[in-house]
Amino acid sequence: MTSTSHPTNVPEPGDAVADGTPLLEVRDLHVEFHTRDGVAKAVNGVNYTVSAGETLAVLGESGSGKSVTAQAIMGILDMPPGKIPQGEILFRGQDMLTMSGEERRKIRGRKIAMIFQDALSSLNPVLSVGYQLGEMFRVHQGLSKKDAKLKAIELMERVRIPAAKERVGDYPHQFSGGMRQRIMIAMALALEPDLIIADEPTTALDVTVQAQIMDLLSELQTEFNMGLILITHDLGVVADVADKIAVMYAGRIVETAPVHEIYKRPAHPYTKGLLESIPRLDQKGQELYAIKGLPPNLTRIPSGCAFNPRCTAAKDICTTDVPVLHQVTERDGGDLAGRGSACHFWKETLHG
Ligand SMILES: Nc1ncnc2c1ncn2[C@@H]1O[C@H](COP(=O)(O)OP(=O)(O)O)[C@@H](O)[C@H]1O
Ligand SMILES: [Mg+2]
Repeated sequence: MTSTSHPTNVPEPGDAVADGTPLLEVRDLHVEFHTRDGVAKAVNGVNYTVSAGETLAVLGESGSGKSVTAQAIMGILDMPPGKIPQGEILFRGQDMLTMSGEERRKIRGRKIAMIFQDALSSLNPVLSVGYQLGEMFRVHQGLSKKDAKLKAIELMERVRIPAAKERVGDYPHQFSGGMRQRIMIAMALALEPDLIIADEPTTALDVTVQAQIMDLLSELQTEFNMGLILITHDLGVVADVADKIAVMYAGRIVETAPVHEIYKRPAHPYTKGLLESIPRLDQKGQELYAIKGLPPNLTRIPSGCAFNPRCTAAKDICTTDVPVLHQVTERDGGDLAGRGSACHFWKETLHG
């Protein structure tokens, strides 16, 4: 059923505008949590953009602010204790942080969908997956129960759940972890969003299933020309699917690069450490390098570069001056498009 009484030429918030504006642009985003122990500065000036058809991988150890940034974009931050003292989150050029609640709701779920790590706790255990998938269509598109069920089956087939017709009435616990994560992907896809944020979507799965889910996400993203933000602590899983990478540490982006370049030549000691921590098949038995120490307490972030206490290359300046995101170039000054490093010694790291 389509309504003809509503004028169709009035743009809704988040409607497509064909002027080359990125799908999503996060500008100088800050998020802090006011707790009994003090103010935890979880996000400290994050900038990133995602265009249609593009995959941005956001990488970093646990506690670096990846999920909090995603929650701010999605509009699901716990506020309080969370607070956004500064920044903009532009969706198709419109700042979602200054939108009305109603405008925001039109974007959340429909234009931007999110996939979480733990499908079992995101799905309702007492409702069949078909019912939960169908609900998207009944609530948002006013479909009948029967049509919604057909749509649910179609979606299950889309994410390649075998025997979808027979399994549409099954409950979440009757599916394997990998299949449940496919159901989460189906839920996210239901309303054909422009952007999907997948927060550690494969972390709970074993390695072969991880690769299948990544491939599926990547394939669907291409098919629907969606933007995709892939959050992970595991550099190993995003190499084949991401276009570009933003590495986060203590709430800041410390390195940005097209995906393949970062593997070949990292320009930040932290990224270098993360790369050396990936298990390699050709180095079986060899002890895994791990970055020494732990990420900082976010109520007491070290002065200068937040990574300096763990950095083997740190000099005096690293304890006093916060490094900006330097544009990274070749030794002769040649262009390295899209590359940035927030290290005072990026040249030594990259070329040294
Ligand atoms: N609801 C909350 N209340 C207080 N502090 C929080 C809350 N959520 C996140 N934080 C703080 O933000 C930090 C970053 O969290 P998060 O973005 O989840 O890290 P990750 O990079 O692992 O996704 C946490 O270590 C914690 O200090
Ligand atoms: Mg997280």
